[in-house]
Amino acid sequence: MDELNQNLMRDEIRVGANLDAWLAHGGGEGLAKALQDPAAIIAEIAQADLRGMGGAGFPTHKKWTPVAAAPEGDKYVICNGNEDEPGTFKDRFLLEHTPHQVIEGALIAALATRANHVILYVNPHQQHSLAATREAARQWRAHRLFTAIEQTIGRTVELRVLASSGLYIGGEETAVIASVEGGFPFPRRKPPFPAQQGVHGAPTIVNNTETLAHVPGILRHGAQWYRDLGVGDAAGTKLYSLSGDVLRPGLYELPMGTSLATLVFQYGGAMLQDKKFKAVFTGGPSNTLLTQRELDVALDFDSVRQRHSRLGTGAMIVVSEGTSIVRKVAEYVSFFAQGSCGQCPPCKGGTFQLMRLLNRLDTGRGVRADLDALENLCRILPGSGRCGLIDGAVTVVESSLNRFREEYEALVA
Ligand SMILES: Cc1cc2nc3c(=O)[nH]c(=O)nc-3n(C[C@H](O)[C@H](O)[C@H](O)COP(=O)(O)O)c2cc1C
Ligand code: SF4
Repeated sequence: MDELNQNLMRDEIRVGANLDAWLAHGGGEGLAKALQDPAAIIAEIAQADLRGMGGAGFPTHKKWTPVAAAPEGDKYVICNGNEDEPGTFKDRFLLEHTPHQVIEGALIAALATRANHVILYVNPHQQHSLAATREAARQWRAHRLFTAIEQTIGRTVELRVLASSGLYIGGEETAVIASVEGGFPFPRRKPPFPAQQGVHGAPTIVNNTETLAHVPGILRHGAQWYRDLGVGDAAGTKLYSLSGDVLRPGLYELPMGTSLATLVFQYGGAMLQDKKFKAVFTGGPSNTLLTQRELDVALDFDSVRQRHSRLGTGAMIVVSEGTSIVRKVAEYVSFFAQGSCGQCPPCKGGTFQLMRLLNRLDTGRGVRADLDALENLCRILPGSGRCGLIDGAVTVVESSLNRFREEYEALVA
């Protein structure tokens, strides 16, 4: 992709925590425009069709609108930089290499909603990202653009960096809120949604780091510019974390709607050792597997959903022929079982049972009853937890059973 068509990863804006360098390359222009007409910000974000990059693809303006409409009082904008899912490595890049872009996006969100707390919630295992974000926030607090925001909304704004627990579950949005309140990151049921009742009961926006990083470019160049970056009806660009059995794994910013085949074979440079493509675990391994027949799918939220999967975070873990799907699924389900916070008995027990059955099958100790038990769990577990962790674990098991049934059958033959 032509670098000029990128929004987030252009070489010249990879300036780390150097605010002057960010401002010298067009940084701050989006915020300056937003300051001229704060009431128009949300409409611009809506027109750009910016979607949440943290997994669900939820329209960003729909999160911001109720917070903007809420009565004056404490309001929070939280940038979710927890990122602990296997195969996802985009937010740490943004926070380390272009933290001012992320912070400017969060400040524009605060301006649009008159929020007086802006919190950057960063995974402490990613030490370079955490250090860069802390330094970048320090620089913003001393800058006149920050003072201009306070003057425009008529109140003092807190801009703070908070190290998360570093646990996978700590990235779920209600767990983020619990952490910010000083507690253990236990998710809670929704509704109420954070926009209605977030940190200490105040209206709260929780947005993914990549989502917020797109905001300055949209305000600077306009919604139409952003829309035109995408392929067809898909708007903007997307960071795809490509890993697994490809020659050139890495982080790619490509037009939203780029095909899976283009990502794997053109940018990924073909399969390792010329092996045959087998499947992709998408969006973190908590979605339906994409296979050979989906190689033509456009990688945008709506097109991937039409193929009964989800784009998720844009993580694509590629596996080649010869890789055992059962083993890969067992590994990912172990991750979910260990990540379960244990509040909901069906999740704690269910993910553990899934892991136990998969491990037994994978190591050749399984019997047909294990396969039946696996299928039964896939029927009863969905929707039984307070958050999406349990559903993600079931989805990857169920989709592997649907698409690679013969591999399971071979293990109990
Ligand atoms: C178990 C679990 C872990 C999650 N971890 C993250 C995370 O690390 N970062 C993130 O942005 N979203 C994470 N999410 C999604 C968030 O709950 C939330 O949807 C997201 O931060 C919203 O941002 P967006 O609208 O900009 O996508 C997680 C969800 C679940 C169920
Ligand atoms: S579904 Fe699992 S991870 Fe989510 S709150 Fe319940 S026990 Fe915790």
